[in-house]
Amino acid sequence: MSGNIVKYAIIGVGGHGLNRHLIPLLSVPNVKLVAVADINKSRCEEVASKYSTKCYTDYMDMINREEIDAASIVTPTGLHASIAIDVLKSGIHVLVDKPLGANLNEVVDVVKIAKKMNRKIMVGYWSRFSPALQYAVEIYRKGLLGEPYYAYGYLIRRRGIPGSPTFIDKTLSGGRGALLDIGCYIIDNLLTVTGYRRPLSVAGAAYTKFGNVVDEIKFNWGTWDPSKFELEDFATGFIRFEGGLTMVFEVAWAANISHVGEVGYMKVLGDRGGIEAKGDEAMKDISFHSRSENFLYDTKPILKSTNMALEMVKSFIYSIIEDREPPITGYQSIILHSIIDAVYNSSSIGEEVKIVLPEI
Ligand SMILES: NC(=O)c1ccc[n+]([C@@H]2O[C@H](COP(=O)([O-])OP(=O)(O)OC[C@H]3O[C@@H](n4cnc5c(N)ncnc54)[C@H](O)[C@@H]3O)[C@@H](O)[C@H]2O)c1
Repeated sequence: MSGNIVKYAIIGVGGHGLNRHLIPLLSVPNVKLVAVADINKSRCEEVASKYSTKCYTDYMDMINREEIDAASIVTPTGLHASIAIDVLKSGIHVLVDKPLGANLNEVVDVVKIAKKMNRKIMVGYWSRFSPALQYAVEIYRKGLLGEPYYAYGYLIRRRGIPGSPTFIDKTLSGGRGALLDIGCYIIDNLLTVTGYRRPLSVAGAAYTKFGNVVDEIKFNWGTWDPSKFELEDFATGFIRFEGGLTMVFEVAWAANISHVGEVGYMKVLGDRGGIEAKGDEAMKDISFHSRSENFLYDTKPILKSTNMALEMVKSFIYSIIEDREPPITGYQSIILHSIIDAVYNSSSIGEEVKIVLPEI
């Protein structure tokens, strides 16, 4: 890093890499975009030419030829961990879009390499920068919930199976469906507002009810071969945490439900207060419920409008410049993915499973 300028690269400049990483980064003062890498040559060249940077179709080639301090990884999920490991081993700080890996083993490997190389690793949950969620965190941190004992949330699309190979090809998606793709958001939201406690056990179930039905193609997003669709389109979980907190979630790419589009909801109940929030993957509307000596009351904060993707990339850049821990850590992903893996395990054996967090 020369001066306070972070020399930056983006690996994977599809929809999300462009809109939620590259474009926001252009307005962060201390960043110089050095290059982008994407195996899709025409997409890579188009983005590089529009944003006056260099294009590489092989990210290792880019790393070997350019001086790079930090990189975003915004490829399909099944490639996140292996690319992150290559990039970290090259001494580069990494912002990986959600989720950090396809499974707990991959996540642990990434966190270990980041620690060994003494590089920053941040996970791109842009939803963390929602003012509604930040209000909930403030309520929790100030003790206004008292002791949280129950958290519940869902993130459900009436019809939103993403047909693109990025999300349903077994290798690219990491072999996992709605639970990994969007379940990670609602679980991260719930864990964040309850202080990322240590999970003890999980009972879960995952179902494929829509993706393998030919007729469903006309209602969802894009097209795919239903005879080859094996990923879950619905999952639910019940989690017990150290200290007595329990959590329930539901997640669906498709479900027979009244609302249109993607709807997210969460509530956290404490013995002094509770919160309820609504939105999608990011919460947009929140209320706090408590009582004074003589009255029950409800509070609704006035929320500022925020460019959440910009806040996400800014917080990563400033964690590098100021040499502090990024706000969304790799260790949190170890907790999150231990829960996700346990839901799949519990679903396949039909029993509650214990969680033992790996040592890092
Ligand atoms: N945080 C969010 O709200 C959000 C929303 C959408 C997607 N995402 C995440 O972002 C990631 C990308 O999703 P997307 O919607 O942009 O998908 P996309 O298919 O539009 O883009 C992925 C890009 O990665 C490129 N790519 C594939 N393999 C590569 C490799 N080995 N090296 C370099 N580039 C490679 C592809 O060519 C493509 O351009 C996924 O992990 C997804 O979960 C997050």
